[in-house]
Amino acid sequence: GEDTFKFYTDGEWKTSTSGKTVNIINPSTLKPVFKVQACTQDEVNKCVDSAKAAQKIWAKTPLWKRAETLHRFAAILREHSVSIAGCLVKEIAKCQKDSVTEVVRSCDLISYTAEEGIRILAQGKFLVSDSFPGNERNKYCLESKIPLGVILAIPPFNYPVNLAVSKIAPALITGNAVILKPPTQGAVAGLHLIHCLHLAGFPKGLVSAITGKGSEIGDLLTMHPGINCISFTGGDTGISISKKAGMIPLQMELGGKDACIVLEDADLDLAASNIVKGGYSYSGQRCTAVKVVCVMESVADTLVSAVNEKVKKLSVGMPEKNCDITPVVSESSANFIQGLVEDAKEKGATFHQEWKREGNLIWPLLIDHVRPDMRIAWEEPFGPVLPVIRIKTIEEGIHHCNANNFALQGCIFTRDINKAIMISDAMESGTIQINGAPARGPDHFPFQGLRDSGIGSQGIINSINIMCKVKSTVINLP
Ligand code: G3P
Repeated sequence: GEDTFKFYTDGEWKTSTSGKTVNIINPSTLKPVFKVQACTQDEVNKCVDSAKAAQKIWAKTPLWKRAETLHRFAAILREHSVSIAGCLVKEIAKCQKDSVTEVVRSCDLISYTAEEGIRILAQGKFLVSDSFPGNERNKYCLESKIPLGVILAIPPFNYPVNLAVSKIAPALITGNAVILKPPTQGAVAGLHLIHCLHLAGFPKGLVSAITGKGSEIGDLLTMHPGINCISFTGGDTGISISKKAGMIPLQMELGGKDACIVLEDADLDLAASNIVKGGYSYSGQRCTAVKVVCVMESVADTLVSAVNEKVKKLSVGMPEKNCDITPVVSESSANFIQGLVEDAKEKGATFHQEWKREGNLIWPLLIDHVRPDMRIAWEEPFGPVLPVIRIKTIEEGIHHCNANNFALQGCIFTRDINKAIMISDAMESGTIQINGAPARGPDHFPFQGLRDSGIGSQGIINSINIMCKVKSTVINLP
């Protein structure tokens, strides 16, 4: 049978008292590959209690020691990068090479966070009172940063390791405890990550990993009074979480429909390679993927044929073989993508390749002459299908970006830097890339979505700051 994995609580691996497990289906074979525990509400409550207690000790642990433990965690994770990548291949069908990259990037992220945390948290502020009208210089204020308490970290399936550590590392360096709820697809990679964390020697109970069904433990976790911050990456579940969560900081990244605007004077080769890399890597299953191309009519044919040339060269197949396009994460996801494609076809879009699907494997597709009445103009397929809208004016492209509920990133291709800046200013989205594909990294850059794409800003520096609160001590002189 499939391997069954325990969950992690109080520094130990345990089987849930529910006696139930959740299946992880290999997207490539459609067969169960692993089982994880279906944790109970009682187990969630116990994790929160242990986290609270351990956090008190951790917050008093010297900052340099917290950083040292994180560096040790990064080093151990690095040693395990190939085996963890193996889980990613089986659980989320990310190709072998990209799976290793995800883990290595995560090690770098942990170390960088430890370094950055040392610098940020070493400094506070000192203020004096006599700048404000009516005050003498008799009050000194010492402002410092203190941890929030217990952080709930919920990463998505597409980066189960990297988007776990991008929440765990800033939480820990700032002196918080963490409860990790890994995505079901990717849970085992997440548990291996926690094994590395265990070996690094953090206090018992400081970090736990709870697996199971969202329907059973989701609301309890996200509405739990013991949780002091939620860092979530995923789909619209994030919107309902934010409505239910209490008065706590939220860091949420909930998808995107990143527009790529290509002007007449653009380097079309550069644009085409970025569109292919941005649109099709990991089969389009990235929130920062290029999800709609808005190209000026006069250069559309040239751009489209340059993109098609490159799409032709993409290899399609299994992640173990390092193919460019691999099966999408689930059957329901493949069905959703197919629905968007069929809708576009019925409404008269032009297909440059034939629609082809075997199981969850979908061949890359460029859908041209897309119009605003087609669902794919607005919705996020999270698959290797990319719509092209031909525009007559730059304003049309800007409008298309701004009219979407999603507003994560966007990009512009032009050789005219003044135009680029003006368009970037007009695009109401979290990050605009000039002459490059949307991307979250490098991981210390700020990363945020506007509108339905999220709340709060990520990136190492911003995450460290979001996971602290300000505390001040005022000295009153006679
Ligand atoms: O899909 C989530 C996301 O954070 C994207 O990251 O590195 O692929 O731009 P990246």
